[in-house]
Amino acid sequence: MLVSATDMINKAHEGHYAIGAFNINNMEWIKAILLGCEAKKAPVMLGVSEGAGKYMCGFDNVVGMVKHIHDNLGITVPVALHLDHGSYEGAKACIEAGFTSVMFDGSHYDFEENEAKSKEIIALAHSKGISVECEVGGIGGTEDGVTSAGELADPEECAKIAGLGVDFLAAGIGNIHGKYPADWAGLNFDRLAEIQKATNGKPLVLHGGSGIPREQVQKAITLGVSKVNVNTECQLVFADATRKYIEAGKDLEGKGYDPRKLLKPGTDAVQALVEDMVENFFGCAGKAE
Ligand code: 13P
Repeated sequence: MLVSATDMINKAHEGHYAIGAFNINNMEWIKAILLGCEAKKAPVMLGVSEGAGKYMCGFDNVVGMVKHIHDNLGITVPVALHLDHGSYEGAKACIEAGFTSVMFDGSHYDFEENEAKSKEIIALAHSKGISVECEVGGIGGTEDGVTSAGELADPEECAKIAGLGVDFLAAGIGNIHGKYPADWAGLNFDRLAEIQKATNGKPLVLHGGSGIPREQVQKAITLGVSKVNVNTECQLVFADATRKYIEAGKDLEGKGYDPRKLLKPGTDAVQALVEDMVENFFGCAGKAE
C-alpha cells in the first residue's frame, strides 16, 4: 500500500535525517528506486513531474504502475507517490487519481494567489489523507520547460504558508535544478535558519539535490531540511552506464540488444546511486525497520 508522506517526513525532521524524493520516468526507474530503498530499509518518495506523468501515459497509469510494481516486488518500506511541481489543475488531478502526496507549486503566482491556491489544495488533499508540499521563492534552473531565477524565499511568506497547515515546505535557498554552474554561490544557510525559525520548525524540502556538495546537504539537514529531491543525478548515471555498454559493443554480442539487457546497466546504476544516497548522504537507511 502506498502511504501519505506526512509520517515519514515528520519522523525524519525529528530524527535529523532526510527522506530521498527520487523522480521517476519509467518502469525501470520505479523498480530501481523501490529495490534500492527496500535493500536499505529506507522510506522513500517517488516524485512525478507533470511532464513525466504525461510521458508515462497519464496520472492514472502512473498510480497503477507504481502500485503493481510495489506489490509485485514485495516492497515493505513506506512509499509515497508524490506529484512534483504540480500546477493547480495537476494537483487536483493527482488527488483524484490516487497519488498519496502532492506538491502545489504556486511560486510563479504573486504571493496572495499562491497563498489562496495553496490553502485550497491543502484542504482538498487533507480531506483525503494526502500530504501536501507548497513552494515559496522559485528554485533556479529549468524543469519541464519552466525556468525560474532561483530567488531566496522570504521567511515571512514561508511563515504564512506554513500557517496554512502545509506538511512540508519548499523554500528557495540558492538551490538550482539540474547541473550546478562552476561559479554557484552555494546554499544560503543563514536564510535556511531564518526560514526554519519563522515557520516554527516546519519540515523543509531541498529541491535540486543533484550535484550539491554532500557536506552542504548534510548541514542543510541539520537546519531543518527533511526531504531532498534528486532527479538529474539518476539520469546522469543511467546515461553513463548505458553509453559504456554500447561503446563496449555489448549490444552487438549475442542478444545484447534485448531491451532488458540494454537497459540493465543503467537501471543497476540508478539503484546503486539510490542505495548510496539513502545510506551515506540522507541518513534514512534503516529507518523503515
Ligand atoms: P535535480 O534534477 O537537480 O536533482 O532536481 C530534482 C528536483 O528538485 C525535482 O523537483
